[in-house]
Amino acid sequence: MSASAEMPYFIKPSLNLSEADKREAYEQAVQAIEANLEGEEDTTLKMATINCLLKTYLPYYYWVGFYLKSGPGRLSVGPYQGTLGCLHIDFSKGVCGKAAREQKTQLVSDTHALEQESEHIACDPNSRSEIVVPVLNPAGELIAVFDVDSTLENSFNEVDQQYLELMLHRVFGLE
Ligand code: SME
Repeated sequence: MSASAEMPYFIKPSLNLSEADKREAYEQAVQAIEANLEGEEDTTLKMATINCLLKTYLPYYYWVGFYLKSGPGRLSVGPYQGTLGCLHIDFSKGVCGKAAREQKTQLVSDTHALEQESEHIACDPNSRSEIVVPVLNPAGELIAVFDVDSTLENSFNEVDQQYLELMLHRVFGLE
């Protein structure tokens, strides 16, 4: 089952940013994340706070959340903000599965250009571009993937990748 195309009242369509505005927004978001998470150890708390603050500062973040490694080759939805997310994803499927398999960030400029189900799973038909970043623990083991969808094409690029990889490493990858 996936979300309907109709956006509930609390969800807004994406708004892309210029590169300079994107960098400024990430600087503010990461500063807020690190200030609020200083000394915190609870994984759920950290994931929920990251979702909230990134969605607050980045107007093209339509769906944002974590898929947790729930078993060999399997991801299950964790803390997220947005419309109904698919509950489970096999490593063999979708953008999330590829990010988990390869442990490499996936940048998708147009989700409609991908083979549906095998290469892209459309939990929400409004999703149009996407970034998925693997989340590793201090031992370098995959614990989750971080997934962001936009309703616009080309919302994500190397700037998003740079900020998200560094922030997720600092929050989850350090002792
Ligand atoms: N699009 C993802 C599935 C998760 S929904 O976007 C929240 C994928 O293709 O793996």
